[in-house]
Amino acid sequence: MSFNDPTYHSNTATLYSAALDEGDYHSWSDSMMTWLMGLITPFPEKMRINRAFVKDMYTAFNNYQLENVLDIGAGPLPRGYEWAPDANILCVDHNPGITAHARSKLPKGANIRYETSSVKALPGKIKSGVADGFYSDSRKIGIGSNAVLMFVDDDEIEQTFKFLYNWCESGSVIRITTTAITAKEDCFRAGMIRRFFKMVNAPMHIRNIDNFVKLLGPWRVNKGPMPAWQWLNWPPSKNTAGIGFDIYGIELIKD
Ligand SMILES: C[S@@+](CC[C@H](N)C(=O)[O-])C[C@H]1O[C@@H](n2cnc3c(N)ncnc32)[C@H](O)[C@@H]1O
Repeated sequence: MSFNDPTYHSNTATLYSAALDEGDYHSWSDSMMTWLMGLITPFPEKMRINRAFVKDMYTAFNNYQLENVLDIGAGPLPRGYEWAPDANILCVDHNPGITAHARSKLPKGANIRYETSSVKALPGKIKSGVADGFYSDSRKIGIGSNAVLMFVDDDEIEQTFKFLYNWCESGSVIRITTTAITAKEDCFRAGMIRRFFKMVNAPMHIRNIDNFVKLLGPWRVNKGPMPAWQWLNWPPSKNTAGIGFDIYGIELIKD
């Protein structure tokens, strides 16, 4: 499966928005679809857990005193400026509709910028100076990419995170959430999950979590991977805990 058609944008952000109380980037039919998905899958609960992870990530970047933040696949619900109020926050998303929607939500004067870029195009965007004059001189960056990389091909993840490693200074931190499984990628259940998300127009890679982590070298894993509910001490429902298919959180560092 390949996701690298730059004109294709799946339902992921609309379903995500519909699953969350704060979201409004969706229609009535997305709400219906999310409600139905909630009857047979843990999807809405996992999206709420992901959102809590995003807040926790920005708060951690604030506590680490990282002056510059890069949020990759930032989505239509910008709140980072509330959680890391002192940082220069550069958000990118590959969907120009989402970039426009998010920009319309930004309060005047918030230190946050939204640009349209895919994971694949990001090195080129950075080289062309998208962060110049917005970031401080420091290249110590807090990088986030939450509930995004399951929609991105292996080679794009590898190339972009290698580029970011070389571009950043030591002390830079990455926090990621991604959907993954603990079983083998060719098992029957992984196939079922892939088919289900394709059916709701949110096709995704269902990777084994250890294979996913291998794509992120040479960044050093500092915490995780672990289910995001466990990271957050979020009491999970029986639909979410221990089923071997989860949203995993990972923290990586450039030493
Ligand atoms: C489920 S939303 C998550 C939004 C946000 N990161 C959060 O956790 O609140 C997934 C986002 O990833 C974006 N996305 C998907 N594929 C992408 C790609 N190849 N490059 C950049 N953004 C992408 C979608 O447009 C969408 O906004």
